[in-house]
Amino acid sequence: MKTFVCKNLDDTDLLAEKFAKLVENDGCFVCMFGDIGAGKTAFVKKVAKHLGVEEKVTSPSFVILNEYHCGKIPIFHFDLYRLENEGVRTILDELEEYSQGRCLTFAEWAEFSQGEIPLDRLEIQIEYVAETERNFTFIAYGEKAQTILEGLN
Ligand SMILES: Nc1ncnc2c1ncn2[C@@H]1O[C@H](COP(=O)(O)OP(=O)(O)O)[C@@H](O)[C@H]1O
Ligand SMILES: [Mg+2]
Repeated sequence: MKTFVCKNLDDTDLLAEKFAKLVENDGCFVCMFGDIGAGKTAFVKKVAKHLGVEEKVTSPSFVILNEYHCGKIPIFHFDLYRLENEGVRTILDELEEYSQGRCLTFAEWAEFSQGEIPLDRLEIQIEYVAETERNFTFIAYGEKAQTILEGLN
């Protein structure tokens, strides 16, 4: 487990840049936790930018999944908020599929899938501290995620 204090958006940008470098080849499955406005989507946007995605990255709250295929690696961005527990169960196979191979997958509101995503994954918990300050806590589950987290400083 590692916690990074981001005093402002520039710090978050730097963290996203380092993270992007670590996942640009083999990808990762990332579960994101944190209240509304914590910065889940903000982090995904910044990672996508550093992976060369030029199109606008928006919140997938209403569409559940956004995909970006124009960067260094395919990015799948889920927002599970509207699905709630039952709904998440219906797309577990898809989530698993999107965690295979060379792609970077983010799942916002992963609390709805607690214990049901038994994949090699990183969990990122974002905590609001002050208007522009956030704590990002990363926890790795599985070997691949562990290797990525070890590289993040
Ligand atoms: N250090 C920071 N890291 C991330 N977001 C920040 C930071 N400081 C301010 N923000 C702002 O907080 C908001 C987070 O919103 P968003 O990413 O949509 O949240 P979520 O997806 O968690 O609901 C954005 O407007 C973002 O610009
Ligand atoms: Mg969001």
